Amino acid sequence: MQRQPLIDAPPASVQRAPLDERPGWLLSTRSTALVLSLGASDALLLAYWGPNGGTQRAADYLPYRSGNRRSERLFLDGLPLAYPVYGEASFKEPCLVVARADGSRVTRLEFVEDRIRDSPSGSVLELIFRDELTGLVVEHRYSVFPELDLVARSVRVENTGAEALTLERVLSGALPLPPGDYDAYTLHGQWGREFELRTRPLLPGKFTTESRRGTSSHEAHPWFAVRPRGEVAEHQGPTWCGSLAWSGNWVGVFETERNDSVSIAMGIQPFDFAWRLGPGAEFSAPELVGGYTDGGLGGAARLLHVYDERVQLPENQRARLRPVLYNSWEATHFDVRAEQQLELARRAASIGVELFVVDDGWFGARNDDRAALGDWTVNTDKLPGGLKPLIDEVHRLGMQFGIWVEPEMVNPESDLYRAHPEWAYHAVGREPTYGRNQLVLNFAREDVQAAIHAQLQHLLTEHGTIDFIKWDHNRAWTEVGWPEQPGQQREVWVRHVRGLYDLLARLRSEFPKLLIESCAGGGGRADLGMLRWTDQVWTSDNTDAADRLAIQYGFSRAHAPRTMVNWVTDVPNQQTGRVAPLEFRFHVAMQGVLGVGGDIGRWPAEDLATAGRLIESYKQLRPLVQQGRQYWLRPPAPIGPCAVQYVSATADETVVFLYQIRGLVGAGMRRARLHGLLPARRYRREGDGAESTGAALMGAGIPLDVLTQHGLDWRSRVEVWRGL
Ligand code: GLA
Repeated sequence: MQRQPLIDAPPASVQRAPLDERPGWLLSTRSTALVLSLGASDALLLAYWGPNGGTQRAADYLPYRSGNRRSERLFLDGLPLAYPVYGEASFKEPCLVVARADGSRVTRLEFVEDRIRDSPSGSVLELIFRDELTGLVVEHRYSVFPELDLVARSVRVENTGAEALTLERVLSGALPLPPGDYDAYTLHGQWGREFELRTRPLLPGKFTTESRRGTSSHEAHPWFAVRPRGEVAEHQGPTWCGSLAWSGNWVGVFETERNDSVSIAMGIQPFDFAWRLGPGAEFSAPELVGGYTDGGLGGAARLLHVYDERVQLPENQRARLRPVLYNSWEATHFDVRAEQQLELARRAASIGVELFVVDDGWFGARNDDRAALGDWTVNTDKLPGGLKPLIDEVHRLGMQFGIWVEPEMVNPESDLYRAHPEWAYHAVGREPTYGRNQLVLNFAREDVQAAIHAQLQHLLTEHGTIDFIKWDHNRAWTEVGWPEQPGQQREVWVRHVRGLYDLLARLRSEFPKLLIESCAGGGGRADLGMLRWTDQVWTSDNTDAADRLAIQYGFSRAHAPRTMVNWVTDVPNQQTGRVAPLEFRFHVAMQGVLGVGGDIGRWPAEDLATAGRLIESYKQLRPLVQQGRQYWLRPPAPIGPCAVQYVSATADETVVFLYQIRGLVGAGMRRARLHGLLPARRYRREGDGAESTGAALMGAGIPLDVLTQHGLDWRSRVEVWRGL
């Protein structure tokens, strides 16, 4: 439940609002307000972020202000610092650390000016600070999205002085919260079990969540939510959230210290990072998108979903419904052959698939994972006529054609590596560590980017229209050395990610119709940064329907269902050996972007008919699932029911997916109370024609347990209610 806005017409979303006779700013959205101000020594304070109180006076939000004890009243560490800077009198986790040539690392910033401007979706506040001694300029940007209840923060630093500086750390921002007891929510996992939602109390000391693996990682996801301790309601209760738009190494530090003040700092990982900022040079830190809601974790998720949909996702494909896809990986692995792929394509078309994707194994000397990454040319032993006849036939069958690539990787057993061994990360005199028999290409190098771009451009133009690519990344980085450029060694982690973004941006502008899926051995790089340049993500290599429920629940805490690709695969499941019924597998995969990944060449006619029927019903529900608002009514559990609901923007229809992996003998009939409907509207259930009002469906609910006469396990049901 979203709080009703307290004010009818929000004033301008950024206003100057002095506080204690010092400059201050009030950032307002439909339901929230955020107060920024200057404290002692021009420190930027973020003293309030919470419900919109319908006032334009910053002081109204801060009837009481705390400081440090008298003898340390000049210290800043007990204050709500929006961006702790190393060199000021604070002991918090700093967001900015800058070294001078003489080794000094004391930075002192003075406020210079503010700039307020309108943007198509809201207003932007820029706050400019400068270090008189070094000429370092720090520009904070707060982009306010009044309709989305979100603020995107970023930081740009520029060296306007004469001496070279070294950036040792430039995080994107800190979120200070008033003294209190809080629980932090973060997402963790590993290969095959990504996006596990974890919670822990914030206590004095620090908790760090991060990646040092090169990608944003399976192990931790650059997202968080914080709630008052013990508040667990899915749809109500104060909740702050943040999501970092960065696909490389990152860090999030949760700290409780002086005056019980809580501070959460997030940004590019400072470990093994340093950036030379010569005179005139600048550096931008990625956006940290954050918000406040009193709608619980579900409310926070929906804010971020809308951000994906309206702001972050590539604009040219943003509104497009994602096609139902078939991917042949689990069916054929590396054994890709023309006739067998054509056979699969014909089957796929017959059950209503719209996009046929050939996965790994179609290129170079690729017969297993030991060779060919880096050689993005067609293997004509496997595809004797090349790709074109396959692509043409797929198009003739009425489907789009997609293909798998892993452009940042190289096998030593490849023409690319034999010609340019120095293009892979390496450290002189050290043996490389192989992961899946492959090394990581140094995407910080422009020649590497150019060579891979040329190969991909050739691939995308020479064989007829390729409509989709799945961009994979299958190993963490080790020996991340660039001995030819010792001066940029510690810039590599960032330059690589920027090189990746540049290449994706280039391909998008050259091939505007191309749809791109991000994959990293499953969901190892499924972050907000990737969603700027790719349209959807593969959340896990684990396609087991039971595990997938939990993975999809976790993923959808942070990202929109329209970005979440799920396949229906064969049983026993390749990763877990579990056997879930076909309909259950479909119902799970229908929660986002539906795909099929089983060996449909071997599916019996009965299963193909079921698949055809369910794909057709998914297409009917697709606008609701991909463009509606999502409400988890009950999270996935190993025993007992779970349910997730999607409501259209106008609340005139809704679909509820209900699942029960294992049921309990003698369990009573529980109810799932629906959300987001119009109370006075009458709705009719598809199938049996039952009718009810929105108020009754939200108050009394629908049966949650999935009872049938045929056993308690692996039950699923879909209910669709349409407004009359
Ligand atoms: C990764 C991906 C899989 C598949 C294989 C191919 O593991 O996550 O979906 O594409 O690579 O090698």
